[in-house]
Amino acid sequence: MAEQIKRIGVLTSGGDSPGMNAAIRSVVRKAVFEGIEVRGILRGYEGLINGEIIEMDSRSVSNILSRGGTVLKTARSMEFMTPEGRAKAAKVVEENGIDALVIIGGNGSLQGALALQKERGITSIGIPGTIDNDLGHTDYTIGAHTSVDTVLDAVDKIRDTVTSMERIYVIEVMGRKEPYIAVMAGLAGGAEEILYPGAEVDMDEIAGEIKKAEKKGKRSWIIIVSEGFSSAHSMAEKIVEKTGCEVRGITLGHIQRGGAPNAPDRVLASRMGAYAVSALIEGHSGKMVAIKGSVLLLIPYEKACFEREKDRKLQEELYSLTKLLAA
Ligand code: F6P
Repeated sequence: MAEQIKRIGVLTSGGDSPGMNAAIRSVVRKAVFEGIEVRGILRGYEGLINGEIIEMDSRSVSNILSRGGTVLKTARSMEFMTPEGRAKAAKVVEENGIDALVIIGGNGSLQGALALQKERGITSIGIPGTIDNDLGHTDYTIGAHTSVDTVLDAVDKIRDTVTSMERIYVIEVMGRKEPYIAVMAGLAGGAEEILYPGAEVDMDEIAGEIKKAEKKGKRSWIIIVSEGFSSAHSMAEKIVEKTGCEVRGITLGHIQRGGAPNAPDRVLASRMGAYAVSALIEGHSGKMVAIKGSVLLLIPYEKACFEREKDRKLQEELYSLTKLLAA
């Protein structure tokens, strides 16, 4: 029989993502419903080390469902990356009578949760919150859907000027090493080319395609480049060099992390938040909430963080279809 959880702490860590607030709201309200006290930890692991802890109840999470960012603030903590920093964090957890943590964040944040459990025995459940969709064994992470929508909005707007001025635009999107945002936005935005980590790219071939298309009257191109592959500007330079065409490079940057979460992210975050609390009540620890199809499940942190190989077949399919439809 699992030891009864009386008080949990919730924190957001790493890069914020749209839907983190919806997840916090769900964690808090589900915990309160179950008679569990909630402490909010500000500024992620950094705030945990510094003891930045607030009491939370159902009213503390009013009107945050639709807001981007995270009301708990977030940070990337260098100190927490050291065993000494994690020892300090564990001490704060114990001193505050916190029985378990809910950690909302991306790959690095859940690796931190894993280390905290292994070294200090701190109970936790993770919720994947990152626009990158770079955690293993889950179809989606909270924020990835909204981020693709944001990129699409920009791509559609850029398309207007690309078409009018008959130029080539290279648009750089986020996602660290994970091509998710690039391939999704590429297909949905009708890109002519997508360049992402792992893709086999022959610049001469791309230049040849551009020149061939030009002869057939196609003079405008959108090339989506994932930040893990190259920067927009260096790719733009390479294309100018090879084709002599007029090329612009644009980096979408941090707008991709902001804005109100869309419906799929609000639903995902609300489901995952409540599920995380149930998992703690049932005695689970060291696991991340994942979604496969429409089903929620728990995946050990090790698998979620290190077996992150996504469905490459799907990526290739989306890429090939993008190319076919860009004819
Ligand atoms: O983890 C989310 C993310 O937006 C990545 O896509 C990107 O590489 C990184 O964070 C940017 O980090 P920072 O906010 O520290 O510039």
